[in-house]
Amino acid sequence: MLTPHTLGIHKFLRLLNPLVRPALNIKPNRRLKKAVNIADVRLCAESRVHKMCFGYLDSGGDDEVTLRRNKDAYSQLEMHFHVLSGLEPPLDLSTKIFGQDVKIPFFACPTAGNRMFHTEGELAVAKASKEHGSLYCLSSISTSSMKEISEILPQDYPKLFQVYVWKDRALLRDILAQAKENGFQSLALTVDFSWYGNRERDIRNNFTIPPAYTLNQIWEACKRPAWTWDFLSNPAYTYALIRNDVHADSLANFINSQLYPAFSWKDAEWLCSEWDGPKAIKGICRPDDAKRALDAGFTSIWVSNHGGRQLDTRYTL
Ligand code: LAC
Repeated sequence: MLTPHTLGIHKFLRLLNPLVRPALNIKPNRRLKKAVNIADVRLCAESRVHKMCFGYLDSGGDDEVTLRRNKDAYSQLEMHFHVLSGLEPPLDLSTKIFGQDVKIPFFACPTAGNRMFHTEGELAVAKASKEHGSLYCLSSISTSSMKEISEILPQDYPKLFQVYVWKDRALLRDILAQAKENGFQSLALTVDFSWYGNRERDIRNNFTIPPAYTLNQIWEACKRPAWTWDFLSNPAYTYALIRNDVHADSLANFINSQLYPAFSWKDAEWLCSEWDGPKAIKGICRPDDAKRALDAGFTSIWVSNHGGRQLDTRYTL
């Protein structure tokens, strides 16, 4: 396919990077500096990122009822705290996650294709994790390689690798070997992604990786100049853990063809037998499945509905 990347235009644009990038980033950076909370940061992302990429990151499955309920669940939490505890900040929040020592009790969940949202992609998240002493979790559908991550996070830094069971077991074994080699101590198997959720926002936005060069997508790209400059002046991204030599557009089909809907407990047991470190199962919603996961050999249960991006409660109007 003829695209600016296949024509190599990014190589010329890159030369102008030191001049153009700071100028284009002035407005988004100013906004980011004024952000006072996560909701503000979300608005900054919306104003910088191409509409369809932001839509992919921000949306949920079907009517997004589950997505809204996930967020609401946090606002329902009440704090019943002890007063006059005599503690003085900075407080020690360190704990263990997946058997590893971390400084804060939460971490950034694995997210696919980070370079879609910002050109620094997964590497920026790895740097932020290091700065805060949190666990780093890499997605199987990463746009940065494990080697690049391991250059930021040394061998013994707490790292978790999220995995899908692809149809191709040889490919999976190769990915597990890469993970070991690059110091990923723990594994998380995602079990609620053996099909692709019905993301209605993606359908409305005609989401494709990378943007199709339709008039509408080009118009949306013009509205987000800082994002578009980064996209056009950097090499095309690949799903770096799977095939580094193929651009992400042709790999979208590959991923669909590799997802394995007939995935079963037997496959999960097989995976457990292939990995000798801590292993979590991500996507458990029921106590009976949690028990079964422990029997299968998992060492942690990761309660998740995939951020409300897969199955949803459905309205029927
Ligand atoms: C998603 C997958 C890739 O939610 O985790 O889009």
